[in-house]
Amino acid sequence: MTDLDAERVDFVAPADLHGLRLEVLRPGQPASSVDHDYDYLPDTFHVAAFGAGGAIAACATFYPEPTPDGRPAWRLRAMASAPALRGRGYGARALRFGMAEIRRRGGLLLWCNARSGALWFYTRIGFSTVGDEFEIAPIGPHYVMEIEL
Ligand SMILES: CC(C)(COP(=O)(O)OP(=O)(O)OC[C@H]1O[C@@H](n2cnc3c(N)ncnc32)[C@H](O)[C@@H]1OP(=O)(O)O)[C@@H](O)C(=O)NCCC(=O)NCCS
Repeated sequence: MTDLDAERVDFVAPADLHGLRLEVLRPGQPASSVDHDYDYLPDTFHVAAFGAGGAIAACATFYPEPTPDGRPAWRLRAMASAPALRGRGYGARALRFGMAEIRRRGGLLLWCNARSGALWFYTRIGFSTVGDEFEIAPIGPHYVMEIEL
């Protein structure tokens, strides 16, 4: 293994992400809770940032979906980073890789429903909030956030 292994970011299959998604985003819920219809849309792509030893350290999924107010855009889903590896840039690497791929495909805008607890992460990347905080039960408070690509 080299240092480069711990900086690799690549496209992966949705099933590769189910373990990390379940641990971080739906703890205690059945595996079906992280297997989404959007995973299999024709233009959906999945990204993983790999840590030392080749384990997936962070993941993100992207597909075209208009913003809530109807502008053409891509949507970010299931952004997660392994609890033991937080704050080491893996999440940011996975997200930036996805943003570059969307630009390559001609996309100009990316949005997400951001958990309020992750606002700092998206703001640091360059996202802005749109509108007021709102609740997604049972997860908690969120903001719509977006970034021009
Ligand atoms: C949000 C989340 C994906 C961020 O992943 P991460 O891998 O820890 O993020 P990164 O390490 O890439 O952080 C980005 C930057 O913020 C810095 N940072 C890390 N933790 C921070 C904190 N608590 N406050 C401020 N900055 C922080 C990092 O050092 C990094 O800086 P750099 O880009 O200069 O290296 C991760 O915390 C997570 O999975 N949270 C739980 C699930 C979740 O909320 N997902 C989002 C759903 S909308």
